[in-house]
Amino acid sequence: MLEASALRAANHRVEEAPAPLPAAERNPLVVRGLVFETPRQRIIDGVDLELPDNRLTVLMGPNGAGKSVLLRLLHGLLTPSAGTILWNGKPPDGRTRRSQAMVFQAPVLLRRSVLSNLRFALGLRGLGCSRREMLSLLGMLGLEPLADRPARLLSGGEQQRLCLARALALRPEVLLLDEPCANLDPASVLMIEEALMKARAAGTKIILVTHDLFQARRVAERIVFLHRGRIAEISPAESFFDTAGSPEARSYMEGRILV
Ligand SMILES: Nc1ncnc2c1ncn2[C@@H]1O[C@H](COP(=O)(O)OP(=O)(O)O)[C@@H](O)[C@H]1O
Ligand SMILES: [Mg+2]
Repeated sequence: MLEASALRAANHRVEEAPAPLPAAERNPLVVRGLVFETPRQRIIDGVDLELPDNRLTVLMGPNGAGKSVLLRLLHGLLTPSAGTILWNGKPPDGRTRRSQAMVFQAPVLLRRSVLSNLRFALGLRGLGCSRREMLSLLGMLGLEPLADRPARLLSGGEQQRLCLARALALRPEVLLLDEPCANLDPASVLMIEEALMKARAAGTKIILVTHDLFQARRVAERIVFLHRGRIAEISPAESFFDTAGSPEARSYMEGRILV
């Protein structure tokens, strides 16, 4: 868990939001020739990707394919070695990050109560939210009875649900999730998926990294399949599961190990 001061360091001046576009067109993402490499390895190897609308996109691919790195690049937490990422025509900066929220595989919470974790995150962005609204959000994720409990005493599933509640409390236009349900109990997975579907219906653009084919089938509207830092396939979910076109995606779905 982080101390409050660590997160406070990320506090920035809140800038005015740009004029709103219709929900379905907000936050078009265009990625061109994206490369991320270290002296030892090219992790993202020339990714081109367009997500013009807000269909729920699932990013899949084998372990080590570069999914987490790609998500961090999109959010502006890593700087590309080459290529461009454009959200609304602009590279990700502080303002972009503040219009987005990211949920990581391992819950990152403050040593405070459940409710105070929400309040603190809202405060960092200069946002307000009534206690009733916060309790209602916690209720959607089955956490209302735990509102005053220290976050560090929650189970893994409860902590991850709190991370999602906190992300949603920020009313992000874009929500990026990196395997948020890995190793969680089925009840937590269900609550998280239901909350994602609600956010999606409300117009939030969601990019979800998951290993879990069943989860992808339940929630995806579009699949991006990444293999060795390259995009092997981008398909509408229904056609992906019926007739995945790329050999990499077919092998993955048949349970063959991809390296
Ligand atoms: N910040 C980093 N610096 C150097 N190498 C990294 C970094 N992050 C991840 N890697 C390496 O990049 C590859 C892809 O990692 P990752 O994106 O975490 O894969 P995935 O999420 O698809 O399992 C792995 O070989 C990993 O060890
Ligand atoms: Mg990963």
